[in-house]
Amino acid sequence: MSGKLTVITGPMYSGKTTELLSYIEIYKLGRKKIKIFKPALDTRYGRSIISTHTGDGVEAIPISKAEEIEKEIEDDVQAVFIDEIQFLEENLVNVVKKLIDKGIDVFCAGLDLSYKQNPFPTTAKLMALADTVVKKKAVCHICGEYNATLSYKIAGEDTEIDVGGMEKYIAVCRDCYNKLLKERSGGKRGES
Ligand code: ADP
Ligand code: TMP
Ligand code: MG
Ligand code: ZN
Repeated sequence: MSGKLTVITGPMYSGKTTELLSYIEIYKLGRKKIKIFKPALDTRYGRSIISTHTGDGVEAIPISKAEEIEKEIEDDVQAVFIDEIQFLEENLVNVVKKLIDKGIDVFCAGLDLSYKQNPFPTTAKLMALADTVVKKKAVCHICGEYNATLSYKIAGEDTEIDVGGMEKYIAVCRDCYNKLLKERSGGKRGES
């Protein structure tokens, strides 16, 4: 039987990694053989650690290219977990297809949109392929409502790949995002 693909997505702080860790726990409790991966470029909490914003973590194999996953998969692996998929290239989709065709369940977590609201292509394609998409929300940093679907950059470089946490990004709802953009452009409509 083929495996199932689950994609957990949403803005920063929405609990994507927390949910990924809870699935890892479920598979570990069931004594399943699993493999956990993360992009090597995400060094926020160490090269080989997946960590939540509250500090819970698990060991993971750091990879630079999606193909490196295939080399790590022995015949008895039953599930594969990958965090921060937005940092891996689009070929991850082909690798994941091969895994689910082999009967391996795959759980991926990552951002759907950059702070500029551009979709991350790898996440978008995996969402299209997924059996289940879990779209999470965060608490809006500005208005306090549980409706944040966007990440907003408060500091750092003007690049869409920029590893960081609370010193660089906040989670916001769409109304607050647009208000922040307007304030930044000195109140002129439609400018960023
Ligand atoms: P993600 O991987 O989506 O960034 P994590 O699973 O690492 O999220 O972290 C989720 C945790 O972040 C929450 O359980 C909460 O304790 C904390 N947190 C910090 N800021 C927020 C926020 N604005 N909204 C929701 N949770 C937040
Ligand atoms: P998180 O979703 O687990 O909080 O992690 C998101 C990571 O992605 C974090 O290192 C910051 C980074 N990031 C970007 O590189 N570009 C972006 O546009 C955003 C919003 C986050
Ligand atoms: Mg995370
Ligand atoms: Zn808001």
